[in-house]
Amino acid sequence: MQETKIVLPDREIPRQWYNIMADMPNLPKPPLHPGTKQPVGPQDLSAIFPMALIEQEVSTQRWIEIPEEVMDIYSLWRPSPLYRAHRLETTLGTPARIYYKYEGVSPAGSHKPNTSIPQAYYNKKAGIKRIATETGAGQWGSAMALAGSLFGLDVTVYMVKVSYNQKPYRRIAMETWGATVHASPSSVTNSGRNILESDPDNPGSLGIAISEAVEDAATHSDTNYALGSVLNHVLLHQTVIGLEAKRQFEIARDYPDVIVGCCGGGSNLAGVSFPFLRDKINGKELRVIAVEPTSCPTLTKGEFRYDFGDTAGLTPLVMMYTLGHDFVPPGIHAGGLRYHGDSPLICQLYHDGLIEAQAYGQTAVFDAAIRFAKSEAIIPAPESAHAIKAVIDEALRCKEEGKEKTIFFNLSGHGYLDLAAYADYLSGKLEDYEYPEEKIKEALSKLPSI
Ligand SMILES: Cc1ncc(COP(=O)(O)O)c(C=O)c1O
Repeated sequence: MQETKIVLPDREIPRQWYNIMADMPNLPKPPLHPGTKQPVGPQDLSAIFPMALIEQEVSTQRWIEIPEEVMDIYSLWRPSPLYRAHRLETTLGTPARIYYKYEGVSPAGSHKPNTSIPQAYYNKKAGIKRIATETGAGQWGSAMALAGSLFGLDVTVYMVKVSYNQKPYRRIAMETWGATVHASPSSVTNSGRNILESDPDNPGSLGIAISEAVEDAATHSDTNYALGSVLNHVLLHQTVIGLEAKRQFEIARDYPDVIVGCCGGGSNLAGVSFPFLRDKINGKELRVIAVEPTSCPTLTKGEFRYDFGDTAGLTPLVMMYTLGHDFVPPGIHAGGLRYHGDSPLICQLYHDGLIEAQAYGQTAVFDAAIRFAKSEAIIPAPESAHAIKAVIDEALRCKEEGKEKTIFFNLSGHGYLDLAAYADYLSGKLEDYEYPEEKIKEALSKLPSI
């Protein structure tokens, strides 16, 4: 029998997160206050974040201790398995070795609890009673709802309206864990009401939902905000994925030539790749590829400049590749990839040539998802399927060129609550959106000049 998966014992869950800011050739430029346009200080952020997370946000310390309480909860599903995709390799007839880390084993079905758990922990410790947050596809909202239930925090989720309607079971999962869920734009906040007034059928976007959640947190003293991607501390928490994978590759006596992750805000890509990027920064040969949708092509078509993280302009201005904060991406099924910007860490690494990016349309992505499901058995989340599409292309290139590369990707979540998307694909209803050039141009023209 061939070896298919490498599983580590609980005691090999990493005890520290890896902070790439200790090793990056260039650190990202500092976030700026939305009003004064001056660098934000810890005090500015303390209205919506606990100090422990603010400290992690700015830390340049290489290793950061994972609290024991967080380790205990991580052990419910971590370490996650590293699979060798033998069957996909055979189907493709490729000489490449394909591996994937499977984050769908978490109770919420994706990598998101790797950060929702520590975020809930630090907020609880700071005496916070409620968390307000946004969710695209519902993956992050479910992860936060789960974390809230484990730590006794109330959770309010603003869920992008198109996903709220496409994915009722995600909402039910959040409610099962005790969260309150609003379709965003909602009539609960000023930001939501303003948008609904001028555009009652607005499908919502992550940028809008973030505005609503930030406003909710900023206007309630017992409430903090939590973000499921983009911020440095979120990416930091996700490095447990890559740290485990490094150990698993040691056991497999292999090492990736190419690492692939889908990229919405950048957290799963960071998680899987940063511990390996440390080796690349130190001279090792390695390619890291971010995969995004052609309908929301942040890295491949965006501009590298300061922009707001949300639509209403309530968050700090961050230096990132952006399509413009009021760009509303088409309602593709990979809701978690519909964000106008990307993490400043990922953007800086992309800018410095340490990460590459590719974009695909959703029909090609679902073709790849089906191919994966039929060979490897797991039905992937539509977001993760973007990475699969890039991996299949890379593996077929290896076949053409007769190269035996090691390709590693993050299967960031399962798609069992995304079956409506598969139903659309199977019945030929899935639309491929054109690259929305005019809309992006218009949104970019409205960026603040710094
Ligand atoms: C399964 C899955 N993968 C990827 C993403 C994209 O987020 P990120 O780029 O932060 O990993 C999401 C976001 O919701 C997701 O649910």
